[in-house]
Amino acid sequence: MKPMLDGKVIVVTGAARGIGRAAAYAMAQAGASLALADFDEDGANTTAAQVARLGARCVVVRADVSREEEVAGLVNAAVARFGRLDGAFNNAGIEQRNTPLHLLSEAQWNAVNDVNLKGVFFCLKHEIRAMLETGGGAIVNTSSALGRVAIPNAAEYCASKGGVLGLSKAAAVEYGSQGIRVNAILPGVIRTPMIDSLVSQPQFAGLLPALEARHPIGRLGEPDEIAQAAVWLLSDLASFVNGSEFSVDGGYLAV
Ligand SMILES: NC(=O)c1ccc[n+]([C@@H]2O[C@H](COP(=O)([O-])OP(=O)(O)OC[C@H]3O[C@@H](n4cnc5c(N)ncnc54)[C@H](O)[C@@H]3O)[C@@H](O)[C@H]2O)c1
Repeated sequence: MKPMLDGKVIVVTGAARGIGRAAAYAMAQAGASLALADFDEDGANTTAAQVARLGARCVVVRADVSREEEVAGLVNAAVARFGRLDGAFNNAGIEQRNTPLHLLSEAQWNAVNDVNLKGVFFCLKHEIRAMLETGGGAIVNTSSALGRVAIPNAAEYCASKGGVLGLSKAAAVEYGSQGIRVNAILPGVIRTPMIDSLVSQPQFAGLLPALEARHPIGRLGEPDEIAQAAVWLLSDLASFVNGSEFSVDGGYLAV
C-alpha cells in the first residue's frame, strides 16, 4: 500500500515547533514533499533537518502569516520548488492574552486575530489560487475546541478560532465542486510549548491537573495525535470529508 500522502506537495504553517513540527514529521513519513513556514526560521530549519533525515523533500520559507505578501511568497515558493500545491495545514497561531474582555485592548484583539484568523484567510486565498491551477487539493485549518466553547479571559482567542470554523466552511462550500476540500481540526489541550508557557506562569499554578481532568480521556493530547488527523484529512482516504469540524480532543467537546 502506498503511503497516505505519497507524491503530494503540502504547505505547513507554524512548522517551527509544537503541532506544526509534529505535522511536518508525520507528513514526511506519509510521503509528502513539504514547504515549511514559520516566522521562527531557526525552528523551522530544525524541523526541516529532521524531515530531510526521513527522506522527504522540503523547503523552508520564513513567513509571517499575518502579512499577505509573505503568505503569497510562501505559496509561490512551494509551487516554484515542487511545481504544484496539493495540500495545506494552516496551523500557525498564538494564544490568548489572558485578559478580561472589558479590559481587552484593540491591540491585544488585533495581535491574536491578525495571526489566528486573518492569517488563515491569507493562506486560504493564496493556496486556493494555486490549487485551482492544477485541479484541486485539500486544506486543513487548525481551529480549537475553543472555537466551539469558551473559557474565561480568552474572548479574542475564542473569537479567532470560531472565525476559523466559519472561514473553513465558507471555503468548503465555495470550492468543493472545484475539487478543493477544506476542513477544520478542533484540538483539545495539547502538550506543546504554547501550553507549557501558559501553565508555567505563577497565576496558573494548578491549571495543568484541572485541564487534564477536563478531558474525559483523562490526559492532555500529544502533538502527533493532531498531526495524524491532519495527515488523514489531507489524504485521498478523506475524499468525502469537506466542511467538517473535526474534533481531536479526548472528548472535551462531548461533555
Ligand atoms: N496546544 C494546544 O493546546 C492547542 C489547542 C487548540 C488549538 N491549538 C492551535 O494549534 C496551533 C498550533 O499550536 P501549538 O500549540 O503547536 O503552538 P506553538 O506555540 O507551540 O507553535 C505555534 C507555531 O506557530 C508559529 N507562529 C506564530 N505566529 C506566527 C505567524 N504570525 N506567522 C508564522 N508563524 C507563526 C510559532 O513561531 C510556532 O512555531 C495554533 O493555531 C493553536 O492556536 C493549540
